[in-house]
Amino acid sequence: MKIAISGKGGVGKTTIAGTLARLFADEGYKVLAIDADPDANLASTIGIPDELAKNIVPLSAMKDLVEERTGAKPGFPGGLFKLNPKVDDIPDKFCTGAFGVRLLVMGTVDKGGMGCICPENALLRSLMRHLLIDRDEVVIMDMEAGIEHLGRGTAESVDALLVVVEPSSRSIQTARSIKKLAEDIGIKRIFLVINKIRGGEEEAYLRENLPELPILVSIKESPEIRLADLEGISPYDADQSLVRQLKTLKKELERVIGHGSRVRS
Ligand SMILES: Nc1ncnc2c1ncn2[C@@H]1O[C@H](COP(=O)(O)OP(=O)(O)OP(=O)(O)O)[C@@H](O)[C@H]1O
Ligand SMILES: [Mg+2]
Repeated sequence: MKIAISGKGGVGKTTIAGTLARLFADEGYKVLAIDADPDANLASTIGIPDELAKNIVPLSAMKDLVEERTGAKPGFPGGLFKLNPKVDDIPDKFCTGAFGVRLLVMGTVDKGGMGCICPENALLRSLMRHLLIDRDEVVIMDMEAGIEHLGRGTAESVDALLVVVEPSSRSIQTARSIKKLAEDIGIKRIFLVINKIRGGEEEAYLRENLPELPILVSIKESPEIRLADLEGISPYDADQSLVRQLKTLKKELERVIGHGSRVRS
């Protein structure tokens, strides 16, 4: 199962990605979490201790690796490099693990789509392709609102794109543009995850304003989640009601994707 999570800044993408990753891992799945946000902070949401997290070097910043695999030094434009570098050993070599979740931090990926053809991008794109197409595990990607860097071909392998919205008109606007982008690059299953709900009228407002996207779950605003964030602990360990709501999300995902059991390890 390959799940990408997007949405406006601050809506709760990382909270949901990290908690969902822990949930799948606890239920016996092999899980790879991908931090594809340049401002990476998925590690603490998974519960990876600070001492480990602070030593994580994003893949795009591993200049020697980029050069070794692509044959070109990053930052020197105009040279020749491999567009299909070897990547299949990277997840095992460079992941950081905790609680049965393995985390890969991608680093800055150019968002220009066809724009920047550079060695770092060639490596990350090949890796993304490998993770989404070749690997038989649950992959959960925490992304920013821009999802173009998934690219055509790769995007088709995303089983579900979760667009997170909170009760705000700007997050609705962003959800609409993400939907359009996602359709343009060939993502077939796009769903809403409503977050930070304080009352029924807020949920109704979101349903009314985004009728084009099916809702998989509605998650309540919770002080425990905020506190967990402040204390740097995983919301998975701090808020049982969030875990219950994400169990609903997981069940819904299995229903709409229809092959959840295939990847059980
Ligand atoms: N249901 C919730 N109830 C209360 N607080 C929440 C909830 N979901 C997320 N938060 C809080 O909202 C803040 C933003 O959450 P998070 O970092 O997951 O969002 P994000 O979409 O990944 O943000 P960014 O765009 O900066 O990466 C955090 O402080 C988090 O603890
Ligand atoms: Mg985030």
